[in-house]
Amino acid sequence: MPEADSLDRKDFHLSQPARNEPFFLKGSGAYDWGMQNRLARIFRPATGRTVMLAIDHGYFQGPTSGLERVDVDIAPLVGSVDALFCTRGILRSSIPASMSAPVVLRASGGPSILRELSDEEIAMSIDDAVRLNAAGVGVQVFVGGPNETRTVHNMTQLVDAGLKVGMPVLGVTAVGRELTRDSRYLGLATRICAELGAQVVKTYFCEEGFEKVTAGCPVPIVMAGGKKLPELEALTMAYEGIDQGAAGVDMGRNIFQTDAPAAMLAAINGVVHDGLTPKLALDLFETLAAAATASPA
Ligand code: R5P
Repeated sequence: MPEADSLDRKDFHLSQPARNEPFFLKGSGAYDWGMQNRLARIFRPATGRTVMLAIDHGYFQGPTSGLERVDVDIAPLVGSVDALFCTRGILRSSIPASMSAPVVLRASGGPSILRELSDEEIAMSIDDAVRLNAAGVGVQVFVGGPNETRTVHNMTQLVDAGLKVGMPVLGVTAVGRELTRDSRYLGLATRICAELGAQVVKTYFCEEGFEKVTAGCPVPIVMAGGKKLPELEALTMAYEGIDQGAAGVDMGRNIFQTDAPAAMLAAINGVVHDGLTPKLALDLFETLAAAATASPA
């Protein structure tokens, strides 16, 4: 039997009411502890924002430029990201399990770039996401596409499975050849994802009305980057997206296809978490890129 607690020094802080802090993320106050804890691993509580590095492109387009050797070119970057967005195959094969960054796993797939891209199914179980200690799963939703209903159903099935284990679902609003990127479309697609249960929504930036897209989505929005742009344009897009209500970025090609991905990651971090203007962030990128060239690792 343990000894009885005989010290008469208990302090119940009677003058202090019990702490009951609201959860820091938009629309996320009603989730269970495990779900909130996973979200707090993806989004920094200090800023409420995230810099996710998206490297899942191979799930439909094979060895994308910049991702030919994830173990060589990407693994060294994971210490500088808030979360990594990748497939379970790349995670198990190419990312050391000793890394501390949380992982959001691409959980839908099927068609390659050679076929109809919207023809996706759920491509992994929640059990495997739990086994891999994931902080979330991501699923593509093709609103307006030929497989709209099925891809929405893919998401809702994952949301139901995720709620059982406290796993957030990132609904990814696809844009493709036939889908536009204006605020009307993005507002429709992001709202549908949130209404049907996605805890986070990933979408693209649009020049006009992006603040209406983020305002109309009751859960956090993270922005994809899209095709490779000149660095100043990519940093400006990130800055404007954050300024107009995005809770972070889930960027890929505009980081890993630059000549200096670590420098670009630092610059994006500066924009997202420290409010650097695009010009200051570009200065940071150029300084770090020049230093990396002068003394390669
Ligand atoms: C593409 O389908 C992938 O899901 C990417 O995660 C997403 O597009 C973000 O990457 P990028 O910034 O390169 O567009």
